[in-house]
Amino acid sequence: PQEHTLALIKPAAAKSHKDEIMQKVKDAGFTISKIKEEALTREMATQFYKDHEGKPFFEELVTCMTEGPSVVMVLTKENAVQEWRQLMGPTDPEVAKESYPESIRAQFAQNILSNAVHGSSNREHALESIEYVFGEIDID
Ligand code: CMP
Repeated sequence: PQEHTLALIKPAAAKSHKDEIMQKVKDAGFTISKIKEEALTREMATQFYKDHEGKPFFEELVTCMTEGPSVVMVLTKENAVQEWRQLMGPTDPEVAKESYPESIRAQFAQNILSNAVHGSSNREHALESIEYVFGEIDID
């Protein structure tokens, strides 16, 4: 069965590495079911990262996510949530370079905050974020 996930290229990477990241998405066999380029508002970023609210890096995270346009996508594939997280690599690019040098974060992240890409952590979050960003969950 096909599964959907919300994938996002963060502003710094959208500016400098968009084409290379999109190529890796396609090479990994994902279907790009929806795509738009949009700068997140602070309200959107706060909603998006509500699970991290209160953490010491939260304000910096929201700032980094709203500094320019992101590429926001719905990716579709069998086991899409987990496979996209695998292709992204570990959150911290220094860890990513050690453990999975082919991953997107190993190759294109600047630091743990500006770490090139984001992906939903589970199916429930994926559906919630897709509905929030694209206003519908009926993709096909
Ligand atoms: P992302 O996949 O966008 O989901 C939450 C983000 O919080 C994560 O990537 C990182 O950019 C950021 N983050 C997670 N942990 C830390 C941390 N310890 N310090 C700074 N930023 C973090």
